[in-house]
Amino acid sequence: MRGKSVLLIIGGGIAAYKSLELIRRLAERGVTTRAILTKAGAEFVTPLSVAALTGEKVYDDLFSLTEEAAMGHIELSRSADLVVVAPATADLMAKMAYGLANDLASTALLATDKTVLMAPAMNVRMWESPSAKRNFETLKRDGVLFVGPNDGEMACGEFGSGRMAEPHEIVATIETALGGEGPLKGIKALVTAGPTREPVDPVRFLANHSSGKQGYAIAGALAAAGAETVLVSGPVALAAPANVKLVRVTTAREMLAASEAALPADVLVMAAAVADWRPDIIANSKLKKSTDRVVPLIRLVENPDILATLASGGARPRLVIGFAAETDDVLENAVAKRTRKGADWIIANDVSGDVMGGDRNRVHLVSETGIEDWPEMSKLEVGARLAARIAEQFKET
Ligand code: C5P
Repeated sequence: MRGKSVLLIIGGGIAAYKSLELIRRLAERGVTTRAILTKAGAEFVTPLSVAALTGEKVYDDLFSLTEEAAMGHIELSRSADLVVVAPATADLMAKMAYGLANDLASTALLATDKTVLMAPAMNVRMWESPSAKRNFETLKRDGVLFVGPNDGEMACGEFGSGRMAEPHEIVATIETALGGEGPLKGIKALVTAGPTREPVDPVRFLANHSSGKQGYAIAGALAAAGAETVLVSGPVALAAPANVKLVRVTTAREMLAASEAALPADVLVMAAAVADWRPDIIANSKLKKSTDRVVPLIRLVENPDILATLASGGARPRLVIGFAAETDDVLENAVAKRTRKGADWIIANDVSGDVMGGDRNRVHLVSETGIEDWPEMSKLEVGARLAARIAEQFKET
């Protein structure tokens, strides 16, 4: 990253204070920052703080004659290697999605010939509103890169998705966007996520509450760290994370076939909640209630254990990581599972609370050398930390 430059657009959100930290972290890595502060942004951080940290004047006026003489908005928009918008407010995202250009920030976004990376930050309701979602999709289609938003508590007191990504996450994404080597560059990763559905008849199935959030977060983090990542997912309502190849499946047997087809890989992370059993016969037509009130008997047969199969197969990845979702005796079960399934690591989590479907997780990493207890954090943070841990492991071996 050393020697590169970033044009940072600071929008008007409470997360703007994190952008000051971002400038410092970039400077530590030898990246120079030139900043545009929007009018609303200046309500949250002062031009003086931004100027002091960037070591440059702060740009805030589209119609400044003196600036146009020295460096016009067009030139400013192209002066850096990458344009970063942090915080990217709903307003800035909407302006860019629609091509509005009525101030310096929006004009620079429209005029630039460089990649734009946005770190959205807004209230959860705003982030989940149909228009913000639409603008997000439009911008992604237009090639804009995104980091975050993360889940968690917000300055407004509400809880949910919309927190700006942390400065270190933005720096990591900037590094990748600038063509830097991610710590997992050259590594192939296979991740499974979500539940499986085992059909009973054409309209019914057996499944579980897995939302896929943890597995998707892991796949996203591995890809952000530079790994070539395939995500084999059961039916969930999530979009594919950036730079991840998504393969959708329904049943455990399909998940096994798709995972085998995705090998070889260096690391396997089996976060899917695979159904242990499936009905032995799938009825061709919908089962009917009988008049004599005899209930149908659904006989179950065991599904293949994907983790154990891949861990003992010829194309075993170098690092095999399984999950142990337990409601009782979490750690004992995880330790036993590691050996039984032939995994190198087991990520153990207690699912007796609202972990399944929730946004937060508290996990333990069980390996040959012992047990690491991780504090409670968002599933996205668990993903990032696991990706960092995997990178460390590969560096050692
Ligand atoms: O035995 P249990 O289901 O608790 O093991 C959990 C781990 O094994 C998870 O990593 C899960 O993805 C994997 N698994 C599997 N195939 C199954 C059942 C579980 O790969 N049929």
